[in-house]
Amino acid sequence: MVGTAAIAAPVLSAVASCAPVPEKFDGHKFPELGYSFDALEPYIDTMTMEVHYTKHHRGYFNNFMSAAEGTELLNMPLEQIFESIAKYPVGVRNYGGGFSNHVLFWENMTPEQKDIPSQIRQAIEKDFNSFDKFREQFSISATTHFGSGWAWRAAGYDGKLFITATANQDNPLMNIPDVKKGVPLLALDVWEHAYYLKYQNKRAEYVDNFWNVVNWEAVNSRLTKSGLV
Ligand SMILES: [Fe+2]
Repeated sequence: MVGTAAIAAPVLSAVASCAPVPEKFDGHKFPELGYSFDALEPYIDTMTMEVHYTKHHRGYFNNFMSAAEGTELLNMPLEQIFESIAKYPVGVRNYGGGFSNHVLFWENMTPEQKDIPSQIRQAIEKDFNSFDKFREQFSISATTHFGSGWAWRAAGYDGKLFITATANQDNPLMNIPDVKKGVPLLALDVWEHAYYLKYQNKRAEYVDNFWNVVNWEAVNSRLTKSGLV
């Protein structure tokens, strides 16, 4: 599985008001992919996976490391950086976001479909009335988001799950205007580089097929670690 400080075991405060941060941080690392490039066929094609991981994600990581070179950012977990992202240059926001968001994205997909854990299913049913309603709302958010960005299902600091979308490489951990704050649980990349080779302009078809590869165990694990729901 992928692994970076961004998804390392967190320390939870008694009253969660911000994202949990890793207990131990030993530097930013580009993650390994937990499956082969062709593992998510036919829903995510091999060429898209290879280019997306080796070019786009690697590019975000390399550019983030260049932006962080010689600064305090090298010694700070991404969650901590995002809490005060507004004070850093926009390159840190864009490349740090791109680095982190793709880590979550790879981890929340799997070629091995299993039953949805009861904890995450019950949390979804409580806050969205039904799983189908949640799926419908998330799909609408992902499909209708204008331009490049991400669709999220996150745990809010009020203890409720919510769906949102962000532009570019922003995410719900960032302290910037117009971004609803919370801990990301499920991420879907809706940049064209994530689907155009296979789906061209048919983003809705890409979003619909995404549900075939969601790693619900990873999503459930993030929910547990968030300590919010
Ligand atoms: Fe991407």
